[in-house]
Amino acid sequence: MKRICVLPGDGIGPEVVESAVAVLKAVTDELEFEYAEIGQSAFGKVGSTMPDETLDLLRKCDSALFGAVTSSDSMADASPVLRFRKELDLFANLRPVKNYVKLAGRPSIDVVMVRENTEGLYTQNEQYDDKGVTTLRRVTRAASERIVRFAIDYSLKNARKSICCVHKSNVLRASDGLFVSVFRELMASEGRELEAREQLVDSAAMKLVNSPHEFDVVVTLNLYGDILSDVAAGTAGGLGFAPSGNLGKVHSVFEPAHGSALDIAGKAVANPTATILAGAMMLDHLKLRNEAAMIRQAVKSTYDSGHLTMDIGGRHGTKGFTEHVVRRLKRGAS
Ligand code: NAI
Ligand code: MG
Repeated sequence: MKRICVLPGDGIGPEVVESAVAVLKAVTDELEFEYAEIGQSAFGKVGSTMPDETLDLLRKCDSALFGAVTSSDSMADASPVLRFRKELDLFANLRPVKNYVKLAGRPSIDVVMVRENTEGLYTQNEQYDDKGVTTLRRVTRAASERIVRFAIDYSLKNARKSICCVHKSNVLRASDGLFVSVFRELMASEGRELEAREQLVDSAAMKLVNSPHEFDVVVTLNLYGDILSDVAAGTAGGLGFAPSGNLGKVHSVFEPAHGSALDIAGKAVANPTATILAGAMMLDHLKLRNEAAMIRQAVKSTYDSGHLTMDIGGRHGTKGFTEHVVRRLKRGAS
């Protein structure tokens, strides 16, 4: 049995996590689910957006499935997402984006975004002075090496052909320049079998919309990866289609790339696909690869049969879509 820590969180988080858990239960009985609090809902109950008990459980479990949290505007509150990424040393954020539905007027996309997940602008280190605010943005050789190495390993293991390093070293010559030089060094040694490409972040955003076939695996810094994975998700149909895995040497947390979507929370219309696919990524990570493939196939077959979610103009809400996926999995098993 594998122990899975489940963190539903805020907004649509609990709605999409419920779907993903139902799908996981339909495909395997190898998982044991243990629920914990995170986000504004946790703050309301226990006075912290990231209770110590939640971090303890995350450390004890074999992996975790997380929904989303609503951010607080209080300067005093550290983001619970940044906290678990830091405390569990989840240095790689893996975000595969591909079409599950062919949408009129949109190109096909099959891009894997590998985002540095521990430093850059995501340290919440901001200092006021009398004229404004200075924000610390840190890029280290060690973190750059470890994420580029992760991208190379991933590409070799998954038969990917090229890695594109996305950066802004024409302006941020020292920091992004360091990231690019690490990329060049490691691609010349450990990634020789792969094509090494480079693209500035602004034109990369345009190409992810207009010609995403130019990208295979992308490796990039924290902020660029955050933004570009949403751009790529838009090309694939929206944030409801973009799963994500936070990976470290020991721990892992899987989640949709989207947030708590307060504009649609409580309406039962959220697309659970991103979270269901995050569940499949978790199964791959736990070496339950057949089960992961079965989930992806069931999602694809649900869309192929015309059962579309509301975010892409279909009629299925969260539960209706999930029921179709679960039914396919149960049919496959019988
Ligand atoms: P968001 O990702 O929650 O939503 C952006 C847009 O995409 C909204 O119009 C939403 O309705 C739509 N959308 C997102 N997920 C969807 C789904 N599964 N199905 C259909 N439509 C979907 O980003 P937003 O609105 O900028 O942020 C809302 C809150 O979430 C903020 O408090 C933000 O800080 C937080 N957030 C949390 C994250 C996390 O917990 N990992 C990540 C991103 C944002
Ligand atoms: Mg984001």
